Amino acid sequence: MRKLQNIMVTGGCGFIGSNFIHYLFEDTGFDGRVINVDKLTYAGNPANLVRIEQKYGGTRYFFERVDIVDFDALDAVFDKYDIDTVIHFAAESHVDRSIHGPKAFIRTNVLGTFNLLEQARKRWRPGDGRHFHHISTDEVYGSAEPGDYFYETTAYSPRSPYSASKAAADHLVRSYANTYGLSTTVTIASNNYGPYQFPEKLLPLMINNMLEEKPLPVYGDGMNVRDWLYVGDHCSAVWMVAVHGKSGQTYNAGGENEWTNIELVQRLCGIMEAKTGKTPGHYKRLITFVKDRPGHDRRYALNCDKIKKQIGWKQSVDFEEGLDKTVDWYLNNRQWVENVKTGEYREWIRKNYSI
Ligand SMILES: NC(=O)c1ccc[n+]([C@@H]2O[C@H](COP(=O)([O-])OP(=O)(O)OC[C@H]3O[C@@H](n4cnc5c(N)ncnc54)[C@H](O)[C@@H]3O)[C@@H](O)[C@H]2O)c1
Repeated sequence: MRKLQNIMVTGGCGFIGSNFIHYLFEDTGFDGRVINVDKLTYAGNPANLVRIEQKYGGTRYFFERVDIVDFDALDAVFDKYDIDTVIHFAAESHVDRSIHGPKAFIRTNVLGTFNLLEQARKRWRPGDGRHFHHISTDEVYGSAEPGDYFYETTAYSPRSPYSASKAAADHLVRSYANTYGLSTTVTIASNNYGPYQFPEKLLPLMINNMLEEKPLPVYGDGMNVRDWLYVGDHCSAVWMVAVHGKSGQTYNAGGENEWTNIELVQRLCGIMEAKTGKTPGHYKRLITFVKDRPGHDRRYALNCDKIKKQIGWKQSVDFEEGLDKTVDWYLNNRQWVENVKTGEYREWIRKNYSI
C-alpha cells in the first residue's frame, strides 16, 4: 500500500479529474495535498471545484494553470510542492475533435505524458514510494466483435487519432516502469457518465437538446455498442489502483454495462419524459440519425476480472441509479450548463486567474 501525500492531479478541471478531486477529499479519508495542474482548454472549468477551493484552497488544494507540454513550467511545480504522486487525467479527449484536428492530441496526450514521465524520472528513484498513475481508455484496444472482450493482454489496435495518442502514452508509461524502474500503473476505463461532463459528450448533449426541444443526433444506425461506467466508480478504481496496484501493471475498469447508442438514447428519453412531466414519446420523436463518424468503432467491451480479483474493486452504482443521478444533476445545474455553453465560465476564469 502506497502512502500518497503530495498528489499532482493533471486535468483536474475536466470532467473526470474534477470528480476525482471531489472523491479524494470527500470520500477517501485522504489527508494530503492536491496540486491541480490544468491548462484550462475549452474543456477545463475551475468552477467545477468551487466547493473544494472554498474548503481546502491554499492549505490542501492548489491550482496551477500549466500546460503539461511546457517542461520548464512543470519543473517549477514539481519543485514547489515536492510532488510524490502524479495522477494523470489531462488529455484532449473528444474523438470527433481528433478527427478534425489531430495535432493537439499528439501534443498533449503524447508529448505531455512524456514530459510528466521525464519530470518524475529526473527526481524519483526506484523504491522511494513515489508513484505515477496514468488514465487511459478502452478505445486503445480497437473494436470488439460481439461476444469478445478486451483483456489487459489484448494487443492494442487504436483506430482514431485520439485512441492512437492515448495508446502511445500508455506504452510510454509502461516503458518507464520497465526501463527506468519508475513506479507506474495504468487504468483503462470505458465510457464515463455523471456530473460535470462537457456538453459535447453523448449524455449531457442529449439531455440538453431535449430541454431545448432540439434534434437528438445518433450516429449511423445507432447500433454501436458502448460500455457505461459511472464516473464515481471510475474514481474509486483510479484511487485503489494508485494505492494498491502493482508497478508496471495495467488494470481494466469498465461498467460491464453494454448498450447500443440508440437503446441508451431511448432510455434517456423515457427518464426525461417522466422527470419533466412530458407525455411518453415526446422526446423520442426528436431522435435523428446522422451520417456516421469516420472509422467509428462498433463495440468496446472490457473484461474486469483482474482489478476485481487483485485490487478488490467493483462498480457500486448500477445503470438505473447512475442515469437517474446524472439526469437530476443536469436538471438541477442548468446554470452550469448555460455558463459552459455560452463561455461565461471563461469570464469567470479571466476574473479569478487574471488571464
Ligand atoms: N470521458 C470518458 O468517458 C473517458 C473514458 C476513459 C478514459 N478517459 C480518459 O480520462 C481522462 C480525462 O477525461 P475527461 O473526459 O475528464 O476529459 P476532459 O476533456 O473533460 O478534461 C480534460 C482536462 O485536461 C485539461 N488539459 C487538456 N490539455 C491540457 C494540457 N496540455 N495541459 C494541461 N491540462 C490540459 C483540460 O483543460 C481539461 O480540464 C483522459 O485522459 C481521457 O482519455 C475518459
